[in-house]
Amino acid sequence: MAHRKRTLSGIKPTGVPHLGNFLGMIKPALALQETHEAFYFIADYHALTTVRNPQEMREQTYDLVATFAALKMDFERHTFFRQSDVPQVTELTWILSCVTPMGLLERAHAYKDAHAKGQEINQGLFAYPVLMASDILIYDSHEVPVGRDQKQHLEMTRDIAQRFNHLFGATFIVPEARIEEQVATIPGTDGRKMSKSYRNELPLFSTEKELRNAVMRIVTDSKSVEDAKDPDTCNVFQIFRQFSSPQQQKEWAVRYRAGGMGYGEIKQATFEAINAEIGPFRDAFFQIRDNPKKMEEILAAGAAKARRIAQEVLNRARHRVGFMARNGDS
Ligand code: ADP
Ligand code: TRP
Repeated sequence: MAHRKRTLSGIKPTGVPHLGNFLGMIKPALALQETHEAFYFIADYHALTTVRNPQEMREQTYDLVATFAALKMDFERHTFFRQSDVPQVTELTWILSCVTPMGLLERAHAYKDAHAKGQEINQGLFAYPVLMASDILIYDSHEVPVGRDQKQHLEMTRDIAQRFNHLFGATFIVPEARIEEQVATIPGTDGRKMSKSYRNELPLFSTEKELRNAVMRIVTDSKSVEDAKDPDTCNVFQIFRQFSSPQQQKEWAVRYRAGGMGYGEIKQATFEAINAEIGPFRDAFFQIRDNPKKMEEILAAGAAKARRIAQEVLNRARHRVGFMARNGDS
């Protein structure tokens, strides 16, 4: 396995994972388990830029453990962990901070958006991309599967790695983003990007009834059943497309354009298609989600594996800047 390329990604425990997370990140990341050595983690240090309730932090962390477990991440062969169990990453963040230009961080979309909206911005939010660079570089990652909204963060990681390598000598692998082009950005029930922050999500794991209700809430135009409709601009169709074969998509597109099809029908078909894909994993999700002891065991085993690598790479960086190597336990 040592010769395999390493893939790494993280997801914040900021709410129940949704189908945008699933299609944009979780599913492609899990598929890479076949060909890569995978490091996937729960980005709780990042979540702390916004989450203010410790109970929520714990519960939402468990939602993600149960999600990856139910979807069959192989915890033996690969590494799944909680970011804050590897504090080495915060030390590397400091080292990287000292080579990161302010101007780079000032250009970050997340910061600029928050600033434009007049939101209160903490230093953690401003420094978010440096912590993310540290996450990626500390595991010698080659590829980072993420949704399109993370593209800029990956570019910043590459910039920071190159700058450090230039100043101190070859130290870090310069990683590549891996973005599924046909998934790109999944719309939510209101047509905007599906996001926990807009409360427009279709839940990945919920009861069948909740999933169906959420699909029925997807906003459509007000055309009547008889009217011809346009699949390319329909929010429901964009989601249907992700869960159906090209043949099925062709058939439904014909029905859209012919008129005589109501949105209720394609919503029902979309619900069934989603349910056919994720339904088989639902029981496993709820079963593991009910077992905190098991989830903590999974996290502890992952953290031990992650810390070993992180300490090694951190020592490489410490040595480069003129610090002494440390053994992580002392
Ligand atoms: P959210 O925007 O709901 O807070 P996160 O920022 O936690 O989601 O995203 C976790 C992962 O899921 C990232 O890789 C992100 O790119 C991906 N992702 C989030 N929303 C979508 C979406 N609507 N379409 C595609 N990928 C998405
Ligand atoms: N910023 C990512 C998001 O909002 C989460 C994340 C944190 C991440 N560290 C990472 C993703 C490292 C990939 C690699 O979705």
